[in-house]
Amino acid sequence: MAVRKVVVFYFSGTGNTWWVSNQLVNTLIANQAEASAISIESVTPNEADFHIASADIVGFGYPIYGSDLPQNMKDFIERLSEVQAKPTFVYCTQWLWSGDGARVGSSFLKPRGFDPRWGEHFLMPNNICLPIPLLPSTNDKTRMQGQLRRARRRAIRFANAIISGERIRRGFGRFAQVLGALQRVPVRKAFPGMRDSIGFDAARCTRCELCVRYCPVANIRGGDGELIALGNCILCLRCYNFCPVSAVTFWGKRHNHEKGEPFRGPVEGFQPKKAVDFPDFDECQFTPFTQNAR
Ligand SMILES: Cc1cc2nc3c(=O)[nH]c(=O)nc-3n(C[C@H](O)[C@H](O)[C@H](O)COP(=O)(O)O)c2cc1C
Repeated sequence: MAVRKVVVFYFSGTGNTWWVSNQLVNTLIANQAEASAISIESVTPNEADFHIASADIVGFGYPIYGSDLPQNMKDFIERLSEVQAKPTFVYCTQWLWSGDGARVGSSFLKPRGFDPRWGEHFLMPNNICLPIPLLPSTNDKTRMQGQLRRARRRAIRFANAIISGERIRRGFGRFAQVLGALQRVPVRKAFPGMRDSIGFDAARCTRCELCVRYCPVANIRGGDGELIALGNCILCLRCYNFCPVSAVTFWGKRHNHEKGEPFRGPVEGFQPKKAVDFPDFDECQFTPFTQNAR
């Protein structure tokens, strides 16, 4: 099949999946395909249907949360119109391991008529920099450049395989599926109880409301009163990591900067984008701490 047009839909809480999606699209374009990466936060299901209808191949990318998809990615897929055997690739970004991270996405796509032919996992920096014992509070910056180099090589190989038709189906085997389920099943049970984990330190908060604007699922209510989390949290940790004054708490605790910086994307340039554009979006700028790794 001569591949002319590829459209990639991704969700990225803190920048890793955005970065990988861009690497894939750049390689696809270098292979003469017309390719674009679209954040699911900036497109309606109807618009997505339109892009899908005109594409030869469709891609879906997401960060792994406990060997599972983020809830907003599941909801996005659920709202797409059904298609007929559309060639599809699925990829996930993860810190350590997911077992069958790409396959689990394909299990949501298949019932809607997508035909997941390729799957890949990308090891990326950790975005869980929480004040919880045994979890790291930050990333080792000396390792990050190496991680990005390896991820870029993998993205190039994956994109080339999509163009050439070569088979890459990471995480699709039976063994991977069993291992993934070992983590996914208990995490799915625990997840509803985790939706209230985020809170706000009112004494520290400057009311810039960046968190309100950046939340991908409109979970944070601002306005005149105190900030309130509404119980829809998908645990992407964007608000926690990007709060300019670290006033967002997890289980009642703020980030301890003495233990290192939270994760603000693998490189400069990640701009969480919402379907609604806020006129004062640029008022509160965050400062990514890793730069120059394109
Ligand atoms: C709630 C949550 C659960 C996670 N679970 C896993 C996991 O099971 N395995 C893993 O390797 N990484 C896990 N991670 C790390 C992220 O998948 C990883 O850092 C990802 O690349 C973040 O992508 P993003 O920056 O595009 O949001 C988890 C992160 C969060 C916030």
